[in-house]
Amino acid sequence: MTVWWLLLALSCLGLSAGLQKSNKYEGYKIYEVSSKARSVALEEALSELVKNASYYEVFSGFKGGNSAKVMVHPDEQISFVKLMDDNNVVYDILNRNVGLTLSRQFETNHMLRQWFPYNGRLGTERYYNHDEINQFIEDLAKENPRRIFLKTVGKSYEGRWLKTVTITNGDARRNKNVILVDGGFHAREWISPAAAIYLISQLVDNLQDNADLLQDYDWVILPVVNPDGYEYTQLSEETRFWRKTRKPSSPDCIGTDPNRNFDFHWNETGASSDPCSLTYAGEKAFSEPEAVVVRDLIHSYVDRGKMYLTLHSYGSLILYPWGWTEGVPDTVADLHEVAAEGQNAILEATGTEYLIGPSTTTINYAAAGASDDYAFNAGFPISFTMELPAGGTGFDPPASDIDHLVKETWVGIAAMARRVIQKYPLA
Ligand SMILES: *[C@@H]1O[C@H](CO)[C@@H](O)[C@H](O)[C@H]1NC(C)=O
Ligand SMILES: *[C@@H]1O[C@H](CO)[C@@H](O)[C@H](O)[C@H]1NC(C)=O
Ligand SMILES: [Zn+2]
Repeated sequence: MTVWWLLLALSCLGLSAGLQKSNKYEGYKIYEVSSKARSVALEEALSELVKNASYYEVFSGFKGGNSAKVMVHPDEQISFVKLMDDNNVVYDILNRNVGLTLSRQFETNHMLRQWFPYNGRLGTERYYNHDEINQFIEDLAKENPRRIFLKTVGKSYEGRWLKTVTITNGDARRNKNVILVDGGFHAREWISPAAAIYLISQLVDNLQDNADLLQDYDWVILPVVNPDGYEYTQLSEETRFWRKTRKPSSPDCIGTDPNRNFDFHWNETGASSDPCSLTYAGEKAFSEPEAVVVRDLIHSYVDRGKMYLTLHSYGSLILYPWGWTEGVPDTVADLHEVAAEGQNAILEATGTEYLIGPSTTTINYAAAGASDDYAFNAGFPISFTMELPAGGTGFDPPASDIDHLVKETWVGIAAMARRVIQKYPLA
């Protein structure tokens, strides 16, 4: 409590400094357009805007009945408002100066880093960088050599080590079923690695409460799939909203969307062939080393794998296949049943309303080449993308939001896992 009070006081002091600093997002505003305003003409207009990446970014379309959030360059405010007015669209201004919000957040994060240095555990007080996260899982494995196993599974384009942590109950029984979880596909979705870290901490530190989750199942977790992007977003306000990997994709543009890079209906729909686009599918399927790592994990655990869960933000959604088509798999009832467990548990715990459903029809757009479709097709009977709730301007929940978001996410994941364990007992 005291710490947060102090922080608040300090961040108020920091405000004047923040005002003088300017960054790329100085004067950008975020508009929220109610989903009631949705029309074909408006969606077309919005999808045109998003192509003009230096002036606009559509943070979220009308996903699952949510309002659309659009970030607009200072020089474009008049044209944007006119477009809304011409379409008789009612909008709110969610944020009047994104640059200021981000510079305050960076100051706070900097301070928190001093106050909460890495001490062998990762709390929910702040966001951690990739080195700290790897250090954390290494230390866990050293402390618990019979329960926790670390594995280096690959390297990012820029040479960062990708490591999984396997959590067991230490009974040394082999060939248990597996739940495979990853986070940090998209660089700016910081709450995703944070949720993966909390999940790891719960399974490690709370063996008593979670004994049933580890009885016949092992958990394999890759907390940060795209560390190059994740580190890039931590550099400054300018780079905070980076989404993709960091491998150059053309002379002018960097990065591929790793979640459009999987070889299952790759580049067919809902992905871009423009290297500068946020949803660039890559020069070919599995062009990105980070996607290759996840592919190999999926294949190496598929015989025992019962649930694949990939953590993203934002939207408060639990999505299941398919994402490449409006169709649904034959086993849609199983997928829905497990997702509903997570939805209900979260609603009961915090009142947060998650929407669940097949990916394409729930978010109203297809996204081929994503990891959840790939894992499901490979043989995981349950495969979900969980989009955590928005915070801050959307992708940037402030550090003070981490605690409740990751705890709520854990409640949902544990509930889904319990249903999976019941449905798919160890053979
Ligand atoms: C992007 O928007 C700006 C401002 O309206 C305009 O000058 C520019 O031509 C647009 N670029 C493209 C590629 O549409
Ligand atoms: C991806 O799809 C687009 C649109 O169909 C096509 O123009 C492009 O050539 C495809 N890219 C590759 C590398 O096949
Ligand atoms: Zn994402």
